[in-house]
Amino acid sequence: MKFYLKAIINFSKDLEGIDIGKILKDSKEILEKGAPKGKGAKIISWKVENNILLIEIESSKWVRPHDGLFRLKNFLSDKLGKKYKVGVRGTSGSLYMITLTLPKEPKEEVTIPFVREIKFKGKKCTLILENLDEEFLRKNYIDRIISLVEEKVNNQYYRGKEEFHEVMWQSKPRKHFFDKDPSQEMEKRNWVKHRGRGQWIFGPIATKIMKTFESIVYDELLKPLGFQEVIIPKAVTWDVWTKSGHAKNLYPEIYYICPPKTRNKEEWENIIDFYKITNEVPIDAIKENIKSPIGGMSYAQCPPLWPYFQNKVIADESLPIKVFDRSGTSMRYESGGIHGIERVDEFHRIEIVWIDYHEGVTKIRDEIVECYKKIFNDILELEWRMSWVTPWFMSQEGLTGLAEKDKNKRDVGTIDFESFLPYSKSWLEFQNVSNNGDKYPKGFGVKSQTGKQLYSGCSGVGLERWLVTFIAQKGMEPKNWPSKFKERIGELPKEIKFL
Ligand code: SER
Ligand code: ZN
Repeated sequence: MKFYLKAIINFSKDLEGIDIGKILKDSKEILEKGAPKGKGAKIISWKVENNILLIEIESSKWVRPHDGLFRLKNFLSDKLGKKYKVGVRGTSGSLYMITLTLPKEPKEEVTIPFVREIKFKGKKCTLILENLDEEFLRKNYIDRIISLVEEKVNNQYYRGKEEFHEVMWQSKPRKHFFDKDPSQEMEKRNWVKHRGRGQWIFGPIATKIMKTFESIVYDELLKPLGFQEVIIPKAVTWDVWTKSGHAKNLYPEIYYICPPKTRNKEEWENIIDFYKITNEVPIDAIKENIKSPIGGMSYAQCPPLWPYFQNKVIADESLPIKVFDRSGTSMRYESGGIHGIERVDEFHRIEIVWIDYHEGVTKIRDEIVECYKKIFNDILELEWRMSWVTPWFMSQEGLTGLAEKDKNKRDVGTIDFESFLPYSKSWLEFQNVSNNGDKYPKGFGVKSQTGKQLYSGCSGVGLERWLVTFIAQKGMEPKNWPSKFKERIGELPKEIKFL
């Protein structure tokens, strides 16, 4: 890696009569601090013009030139302030050039904000940036720009690659009682009703089935394993998504939340009056009256739980933490196309979260898998399988294709539960379970009493997906439903008929 920076430092007065050359020579040591001898940042040329010092700094992998520039600024402030009563004002960069070798050869051009030009020659990459203010230099954007180039080139090798997916376990085949699309058939009989983009109303029968699923999860898993119910917010603010990593990638899928600019009714009067006259909601005028988004609607469900633990030390006596949430919907702006209730924008899920030391988190994950097995094999009698996939916390950050490939090391990561849909002869992910490793305790600064690293796990039970799975395999006639399920659900509400 090679770095070159052409910068200026402004002073409060003309520098005439001051031996700047001598002072710069003396700065050599501070420009090398932290680097092997002779390897730090180096001044390769300088020139004084009235109250401005023009300077060129070079370095290799050790001290970045902009770090060198700030060290120099402090040094000059010290040397010139007392003796010559000259103050150091701002600094800025007119040209920054970085040459580096990438781990992989790029397949195509990339663009990066702030960078005027990126040139590639094989694995060699040159970045050219111009007119950089002090904030840009001070906040170390340069290093993040370098990482982003590497990430983008790396992604060129993954793009288009499917998520990692390997079947780990498969149930026995089952007799299927239905070969139709559950969403369509349920809609025909008013069990469900499609409402605009990816949103459904669940009528009494569909709701009773979903609530029965919920009670099965409660009776067979949450209660015996000792999980306690919590209520997690469904409006997620940016601070959560910056810590969870979602802020790196989520933008095209967020349902954004914008509060009004004011509560003052007078400032909404136009909009209120306009509606009364036209009977139309004046959307463009509303846009003018709302603030920028403060965040978005719940996406992965568990991240907005974490501020509860943020920067806390969890007492050993409270471990393992075992909680679950079923207090509302998650929303994702899904890509177009109609998928029935298999792919919806607004969906219901029980989200189960646990926190413990590493071994504890893995053990709880395994206990949860056993409970699910019992539910799907003995109560719902499903044809289903488990697959090892790219962990959800990576794929939601845009890191598709990545997963622990070595079978013996599969501990941190995600298992998807997939059901067979006879009508489409395909497999549907209907829930998952994960050991999320140290990602969340680290991201939210959660510590243990012993100082040993905490881990966490979560599992999302997708109730719409369970419903599709169940109806797709068992159909809509209760006489074909497994007896243990029939016992639990009892009598179904009457169908609602429209004339
Ligand atoms: N939080 C996990 C996910 O979004 C489990 O629900 O997949
Ligand atoms: Zn989760």
